[in-house]
Amino acid sequence: MGWIRVVSKNNSFLIISDLGELKEKITSLKSSKKSISFVPTMGALHDGHLELLKQAGRLADVVIVSIFVNPKQFGLGEDYQVYPRQIQRDIDKLLDAGVSVLYNPDASSMYPNDFQTTVDVSKLSLGLCGKFRPRHFQGVATVVAKLLIQVSPDYIILGEKDFQQFLVVKQLVHDLDLPGEVLAVPIVREIDGLAMSSRNLYMTRKEREIAPKLYKELKEVAQDIVIGKDVKERCLAGIERLISCGFSSVDYLELCDCQTLELLDTSRPQARVMCAATIGQTRLIDNVII
Ligand code: PAJ
Repeated sequence: MGWIRVVSKNNSFLIISDLGELKEKITSLKSSKKSISFVPTMGALHDGHLELLKQAGRLADVVIVSIFVNPKQFGLGEDYQVYPRQIQRDIDKLLDAGVSVLYNPDASSMYPNDFQTTVDVSKLSLGLCGKFRPRHFQGVATVVAKLLIQVSPDYIILGEKDFQQFLVVKQLVHDLDLPGEVLAVPIVREIDGLAMSSRNLYMTRKEREIAPKLYKELKEVAQDIVIGKDVKERCLAGIERLISCGFSSVDYLELCDCQTLELLDTSRPQARVMCAATIGQTRLIDNVII
């Protein structure tokens, strides 16, 4: 038997790492007409992930969450080796999250030695983070395509924090007729406004104090755009302000169309101010809607 059942006082769920076992479980769920919500993650779970799970639970009979730190979406010199892996803590958090299955495959079964296929959502992956993390979205699209084929969900729940990723996955599902409706949950923030992220653990205390200025600046940029300030000038000023308050670099700070991610120099409904900035060793991303 490849699965483990984790039990607490009121709840229990299965941990499955073997694909054959997962498929058996999915077949049995489908034959009993259960609808499935799926939340893919890389673990080091925080309240942002838990919010996705709550939304998943509202939509379907059964929630499946995956934890898989996907090597293909990390570039050379990025943080794959040090990415936080806290499976026991994650399991504890999942006990109260109403999930039925934690799918936790290992890298050698996801990508055996003869693995050759890459999925590329070409246009949406090019700009913003794609420009600074070449092949990142190919890695995301490849693993998400595999996971969706494996889990065959009715709903796929993602977070708006990774807004470009959300659009890439939506396009992927549309183009390849993959199972599931892709839905996004708004960004969950710390009390001081910082978007929750597994990578926030990397920051020193001093960096953590500066980090909320990213959200503050994005909100101010959005407000200034609404009252008619020049978009390009205001975004450039935002970059300068982030650098002067302690960020080491800003990859981009742009106003973008919310469907195509086209860079805008005038506002339109639902446009988003999107930003990636590094503080010390930690790359933060965030966005706000106009
Ligand atoms: P991970 O960074 O673990 O995020 C898993 C999901 O949680 C993503 O959809 C992400 O957007 C969402 N999320 C993270 N922080 C959030 C926050 N503060 N508020 C709302 N949602 C938040 O994103 C990935 O993993 C991977 O790229 C993955 C999709 C699993 C593919 O490997």
